[in-house]
Amino acid sequence: MRILTEGKAKFYAPTAKIVSKDMPVFYNPVMKTNRDIAVAIVASSGRKMRIADPLAGTGIRSIRILLEAGKNAESIAINDVSPSAVRLIKKNLRLNKLSGKKISIANTEANKFLLESKSFDYIDIDPFGYPGIFLESAIKRISQKGIIAITATDTAALAGTAPKACMRKYWAIPLRNELMHEIGLRIMIRRVQITAAAFEKAAVPVLSYFKDHYARAFFRMERGASKADSILKQHKMFFYCSKSMERGIGTACQSCGEGKEVAGPLWTGPLWERETLISAMKKTCNKETRKFLGTIAEEARVDSVGFYDIHKVCKSLQIAAPKTAEIMKRLRKRKIKAAMTHFSNRGIRANAGIKEIKKFIKAASAN
Ligand SMILES: C[S@@+](CC[C@H](N)C(=O)[O-])C[C@H]1O[C@@H](n2cnc3c(N)ncnc32)[C@H](O)[C@@H]1O
Repeated sequence: MRILTEGKAKFYAPTAKIVSKDMPVFYNPVMKTNRDIAVAIVASSGRKMRIADPLAGTGIRSIRILLEAGKNAESIAINDVSPSAVRLIKKNLRLNKLSGKKISIANTEANKFLLESKSFDYIDIDPFGYPGIFLESAIKRISQKGIIAITATDTAALAGTAPKACMRKYWAIPLRNELMHEIGLRIMIRRVQITAAAFEKAAVPVLSYFKDHYARAFFRMERGASKADSILKQHKMFFYCSKSMERGIGTACQSCGEGKEVAGPLWTGPLWERETLISAMKKTCNKETRKFLGTIAEEARVDSVGFYDIHKVCKSLQIAAPKTAEIMKRLRKRKIKAAMTHFSNRGIRANAGIKEIKKFIKAASAN
């Protein structure tokens, strides 16, 4: 064991060269941004929350919430199925001098833990891989307008390397090209929404992203059959033509009909609520995480499914890639909404079709 720091917390974590499920207690430093944003969501919620951390590992997520968003944490229920994780959670709480009535600790299976609890205003599902097996319990226990946060690290399924696993677990067809992460995220969102709809709840995405090796989404959960119905109306198929790079909602490529790939069903509505992003950004203490949320906040101004990979477009046009800033300048001059995307550092999200984008890129390249 060694003592690490993250945010305002100090904590014991196992010493392991390789991060894996086989660690005595799981801790992945790469997921710091994931925890930064969870803390920021609670800190910026503007209300007292009863919080659940059903898959807590070392307890670092809960400890950070208590130290960094404490006023909003009315209570926090920390759980892990592993007895050694629970021993470590207790030790880490002591290390940070955290105790008192508002903290409870359990050592049981996450579904059992949730179902045997009263309701929560924030539930963070952070499993190994696939989150689907915890969805029903979380959806049952979330309060009206409470937030459910879901992490999915089974990216082989979501991003198209394992399409059969995607069909089995997410009941959808993934895509394997430059849009795979966005499409995977939208497939994961739909999976949560259809499970919520069965309980007459609408899962409204307020902040979602794909980073490193995982998809992540925060949902505001609202009761009501008609609200759930209006979510379901925004589940559609998505087509992508590898020849023309034409893409869009539906199954038909307008231009050539060749090289067509189809993905979905998936969520075609907004991935973000800009106000949530801005207020989370303000509560983020880490500079890199703030920058990451800032990129998404700009991206959230553009409402589209999919983005354009500049290098891929240039390759198809057989031209050298112009500066991204030059393309953006030209798009904005023509009042076309455009922003960089967090999904790719070569990607532009824009309210324009591929033919138009090609024209702008050609012009910028000739400059
Ligand atoms: C990815 S780790 C959680 C990491 C932690 N949330 C963090 O931010 O560092 C998943 C944790 O879930 C626990 N776990 C796995 N299956 C579980 C289950 N069915 N019920 C409760 N805990 C479970 C594991 O012991 C592990 O500690």
